[in-house]
Formats: sequence, C-alpha cells, structure tokens
Amino acid sequence: MNALPTPPDIVRCAYMDLVVTDLAASRAFYVDVLGLVVTEESETEVYLRTFEEFIHHNLVLRQGPVAAVAALAFRVRTPEDVDRAQAYYEALGCRTERRASGFVRGVGDSVRVEDPLGFPYEFFYEVDHVERLAWRYDLHNPGALVRLDHFNQVTPDVPRGLAYLEALGFRVTEDIEDSDGIVYAAWLRRKDTVHDTALTGGNGPRVHHIAFATHEKHNIIHICDKLGALRLSDRIERGPGRHGVSNAFYLYLLDPDGHRVEIYTQDYYTGDPDNPVVKWDVHDNQRRDWWGNPVVPSWYTEASLVLDLDGNVKAVEVREEPTELAVTVGADGFSYTREGDAEKGFKLGNTL
Ligand SMILES: [Fe+2]
Repeated sequence: MNALPTPPDIVRCAYMDLVVTDLAASRAFYVDVLGLVVTEESETEVYLRTFEEFIHHNLVLRQGPVAAVAALAFRVRTPEDVDRAQAYYEALGCRTERRASGFVRGVGDSVRVEDPLGFPYEFFYEVDHVERLAWRYDLHNPGALVRLDHFNQVTPDVPRGLAYLEALGFRVTEDIEDSDGIVYAAWLRRKDTVHDTALTGGNGPRVHHIAFATHEKHNIIHICDKLGALRLSDRIERGPGRHGVSNAFYLYLLDPDGHRVEIYTQDYYTGDPDNPVVKWDVHDNQRRDWWGNPVVPSWYTEASLVLDLDGNVKAVEVREEPTELAVTVGADGFSYTREGDAEKGFKLGNTL
C-alpha cells in the first residue's frame, strides 16, 4: 500500500451546513424552540451557535430545493492543516475544492472534499470569533444547548469506514458487533469525549443526526416539556433516555424537514492514550437504551441525504450485511436483557 501523506490534525467537529426547504420553519424550530443563538442571518441563510461556542457558528441553515447535508465541517489545529487535508484527500483520489475565503460566512480558508465514503467533509482553521455566552445566564433558556457534541453518519460498510477514519486520526471508543464479527456501528473521537462522529451501518452515505450538548439531564426534560406545551410532541422521535453506548442521556428530535437532532449530555472522558474500547453485543437490549426501551424503527431506517460539491444529491448504496433492526427486532430478531437469556427479551409492552 502506498504511504499516504500526514493527515490533518483535526481538533473537533465544528459545524454542519444543512439545506432546509422552508427556512422560516427551520429557524422557528432551531431558534424559537431549541434556543440556538443567531450569529447572523440573511434571506437565505441562518448562522447559529451554542452558548459556549466562541467560533462563528455550529450550524448553518441554508434555504434550498432538497433537504440534505451540504457539509460536515471539522476544525483543524493550524492553518497548515488545511493544506495537509487537501493533500491527504488528493492522495486518496478524492475530489477536493479549496476556497481561500471560505464556503460560508465567518470561516476563512477551507477545503471541502467528497470523501471515500461519499460524505462532504470540510476542514478549516481560520474563523471569526464571537462572544462566548457561557456566563450570559440572562440569555440562557432552561433547555440551553451549550456545545456541538457530534455528528452521526450512515454508511453501508462500517469496517471500511473505520479503516478510513482511523487512518485520518480518529480513535474508536465504542462499537456494536456480533459474535460473527459483523460491525453494526462504531463511535470515533478527536476531542476527549466519546465521539466527534459515529458510523451507523445502513444505506448511505446519509447523515443520521447532529447532536448538541446540554449541561444536565433536567435541561433535556425541559425541552420535552416545552415541546409538549407547544403541541409539538410529534417532533420527539425517541427518548428521553439513557444510552448504553456512551452512557449519555439523550433525546432525538426531528426538524421540519425530518433532519434528526440529538440532545445529549454527560458522556465520559476518553482522552488517555490507553482509553479502553467498549464493545457491545448487538443482541444486548441495553446497548441503545440502558433502560431497555425499544428503538423506534424510523430511527434505524430514516436519515438525511448528503450533497456532493456541486450541490447534487449523492446516490445511496444499500448495506449488504444484516441491519441492526433486522437482527434485533421482529420475528427473526433476538435480544436479551440478561446474558444467557434464551428468549426474546424486550420489555413487556413492546409492540415492535
Ligand atoms: Fe448521537
């Protein structure tokens, strides 16, 4: 195998460039309901950030014809790492596009790539700094979103994706597999949390969700209460609950276009070089929800399309290996609550 150039030193997931079909409806969801902070906006774009963020934005809402993800953007450690990113992807044979003045407002010299899995990744260092509103409790709402935590991507071949992302410098923290060696999902980090992105096995390239962090569990409960009060409970797809994987408290919402947003809090520190990898059995009922609550089928099957660098929707490839839904839910599926259980172990009341 030919040696690849040094990969860019990626600091963290930084923002998502998201195409929405009704900008006013999406703005109402992300700003009026979820309380993200508007850094700036125009007729066609809204730039949003979390309360602890000091770079220009964590989410761009962009009016467009098809709901899709235009870029998953990562901050790199130095300006030279943007050069490294471009050289690295060119060596991989991927299409790249460099723009010295950036692809979006508030971000300078950047490179966008169509990566080997078909995802549009962006790498940047230069950025406009804005006020970090961490101490501005006069502005916080009870469900305050304080940080961008991670992305989650759907790809047909998880081991192939892992090999690519580990070579790029990501480290695996957890995965879901079975005794035949099939990998259903994996979590990968650059910053010292459980992940900056995750790979979910399924038809892809698609984006499963973007996740924002709150400080505490009660902030997530408030978001649920608020959605109920607004008669928007149908935006709640799954949760609230406690994950097995990542140990985080979670809630999954769907925005007006069906883009999935996770609200996430209290995973654990992963920064040591010998951080242990946690492996979950796909048949363990507590892997996705520590309390054993079932996962709704839409959570397994639905995800956002992604765009290529010309703005066209990327074709979706079908996963050939068994899906997590197929092996854990339904007539042929099997899950257990206690190791050694011989019968399907979903909670009484499960109707899936
Ligand atoms: Fe997540």
